Amino acid sequence: MDKISICIVGLGRAGRFHLDSILKLNQFELLYIVDPVNKRKDINNDLPENVVFTASLDEAISNPNLDAVIVSSPTQSHYDYIIQALENGKHVFTEKPLGKSSEDIIKCFDLASDKNLALYVGFQRRYDVNFNELKAQINQFGAPRMIKISSRDNPKPSIEYLKNSGNIFHDMLIHDFDMLIYLLGERIPESVYVLSHAYDPEIAAIPDFDTVVVSIKYADGLMCTIDTSRTSPYGYDQRIEIFAEEGMVIAENQRNNTVEIHTETGKQQAPANYSFPTRYADCYLKEIIHFGEGIYHGENFNITKRECILAHQIAESCHESAQKNTAINFKFWYDH
Ligand SMILES: NC(=O)c1ccc[n+]([C@@H]2O[C@H](COP(=O)([O-])OP(=O)(O)OC[C@H]3O[C@@H](n4cnc5c(N)ncnc54)[C@H](O)[C@@H]3O)[C@@H](O)[C@H]2O)c1
Repeated sequence: MDKISICIVGLGRAGRFHLDSILKLNQFELLYIVDPVNKRKDINNDLPENVVFTASLDEAISNPNLDAVIVSSPTQSHYDYIIQALENGKHVFTEKPLGKSSEDIIKCFDLASDKNLALYVGFQRRYDVNFNELKAQINQFGAPRMIKISSRDNPKPSIEYLKNSGNIFHDMLIHDFDMLIYLLGERIPESVYVLSHAYDPEIAAIPDFDTVVVSIKYADGLMCTIDTSRTSPYGYDQRIEIFAEEGMVIAENQRNNTVEIHTETGKQQAPANYSFPTRYADCYLKEIIHFGEGIYHGENFNITKRECILAHQIAESCHESAQKNTAINFKFWYDH
């Protein structure tokens, strides 16, 4: 294979950052954009003339020259697109989630494995230099005892998006659950407890929550809290603190610049990045580079099936805890 010919399914917020990556990378050739809305006129001049806009994946998938598909369409459509692409012999990079259930996730991974195809999942925070360094340091200071994650989105997504997102646990917090799995390995929680509220009446009406505090406890005593919000007035806020037996490690927010101004009124500094496309721009590029390398080198997965199922089941248990307003003993039912 010379260039990897590729198709992007869904050209919204996520599709746009994947389009930017594909247009920057020589190893890919974009053949199709699948979206019910033809967005050609909204895209800058770098888009090659021969890219075909189509409303259905069928046309792209029947092209034997197409090697791979990026799935960045609305959440509820991922599973069918992933299965359709894999069944037709195409490598897949997909935004989370893969499907609605653990069974869906298992089917996607098993099909990719049977067909010897790449199936990469867009948990982009794993490609972030700050969190990579946090992982490198996590065992340098004795056993971790407490982990605090703040994960506050900005700006509020459209209400249409939120209605189709699953819920805040599967849509937003899933990235934080994946981050815990990335940092701690496939450690299984013992229990979860969630406090949650919807301040925003539109979100309350879905019904969903916009503000959540998750507590997770592990068998050795390690306690993790994640506080999350759908909005954050001062910018995109994502910090992690690990408190361990012999020290503490912190990954701070990325700011627009590092200049601090000190005067008699105190300290001023640039705000945190505005939103995820700027905060994780380099990660979105790296994950697609990694996908291309996976295809060239015959590596099927960037994240294991077990890790994806674990993140999904933590999200399920947290949702249950929020609904019942009680602690849930966590049971991981998939193991082999
Ligand atoms: N990893 C991340 O940081 C990240 C960030 C944003 C979104 N996402 C994920 O990406 C997915 C898309 O989210 P978004 O924010 O880009 O949504 P969006 O609403 O901005 O865009 C969705 C796009 O898909 C198109 N679309 C609608 N129905 C379609 C269909 N059946 N087939 C193909 N295209 C269709 C819409 O016209 C639109 O262009 C979601 O599943 C979300 O979880 C991930």
